Amino acid sequence: MTTAENNTAVAPERKKVIFSGIQPTGVMTLGNYLGAIKNWVTLQEEYNCIYSIVNMHAITVRQDPAALRKNTMEAFALLLACGVDPEKCICFIQSHVRTHAELTWVLSCFTQFGELSRMTQFKDKSAKHPDNINVGLFTYPVLMAADILLYQADLVPVGADQKQHLELSRDIAGRFNSLFSNTFKMPDPYIPKLGARIMSLQEPDKKMSKSDENVNAFISILDKPETIVKKFKRAVTDSETEVVFREGKDGINNLMTIYSTITGDSYEKIANDFAGKGYGDFKTAVGEVVAEHLRPVRENFDRYVNDKAYLKECYQKGAERALMISSRTLEKVYKKVGFLPNK
Ligand code: TRP
Repeated sequence: MTTAENNTAVAPERKKVIFSGIQPTGVMTLGNYLGAIKNWVTLQEEYNCIYSIVNMHAITVRQDPAALRKNTMEAFALLLACGVDPEKCICFIQSHVRTHAELTWVLSCFTQFGELSRMTQFKDKSAKHPDNINVGLFTYPVLMAADILLYQADLVPVGADQKQHLELSRDIAGRFNSLFSNTFKMPDPYIPKLGARIMSLQEPDKKMSKSDENVNAFISILDKPETIVKKFKRAVTDSETEVVFREGKDGINNLMTIYSTITGDSYEKIANDFAGKGYGDFKTAVGEVVAEHLRPVRENFDRYVNDKAYLKECYQKGAERALMISSRTLEKVYKKVGFLPNK
């Protein structure tokens, strides 16, 4: 028992603030779900969570406007369908909250060209889109720093590919704080207890990706139950027969990770339960567990996506609350850098 629980006279500790964002770029996979969104749902019980659909980040690569609008709405509906609860946390669409763009400008004046040049994601993305190496792609991490710092976030759940960006956010915050006195909370990465990294079902040494040409390689959160079971039955494994988590068994390890993340069973328990049964039985079991787990998500999604009025009510309320919190930080920043107040 902590001292706070021991002594009711002590004011409860301030809940820590968590900020995270996800891009609205079409179908989400089982990898996005188990690696991120499922954790978001758990975290909202214990923390002050602020989640954003980051459509401003999305336009750093070319987007079809109608598709972006649709994907943004669907990403928001999907968050709710997965169990992100607008009564428990703040969820909003990035472009609805003007402070993000405004703080980005100020922070960009405290970020060095050299720092941004070293970002590996910038190097990768500019190699992938050589015909559109725009300045937004370059300053992407500054917008991400603004997202986080505006809310004085304590913790940021990010995948390995975003670690360097979070590190940069800390550098920018530290620099600003030492120039102008304490302004920003230093954000720490949040490493989930169950940090599932889900691999391709066809090439299990590669991360599961929705852009894979082979549709059997990934599960979309919205795949039908029959499709899910079929894809798992076709999952690539190895030439052995034993269901056990071991180096070199990438395919089985991946299936065990998926099964364990959903059921909560340990690898030992899974190995025991499937001892003497073949890979076929195990693949079917994983497929069924995933299909059942995602069934309500798909049903909720269908309901939400057809209720635009409700979605709008939710994201408007989210944006209003996000603006209120983030404006406090932006006002401080404007004052500290010497912008003449207009009141
Ligand atoms: N860049 C992140 C990604 O692509 C998304 C993101 C934008 C984000 N702003 C953020 C994540 C702030 C965490 C915190 O995954």
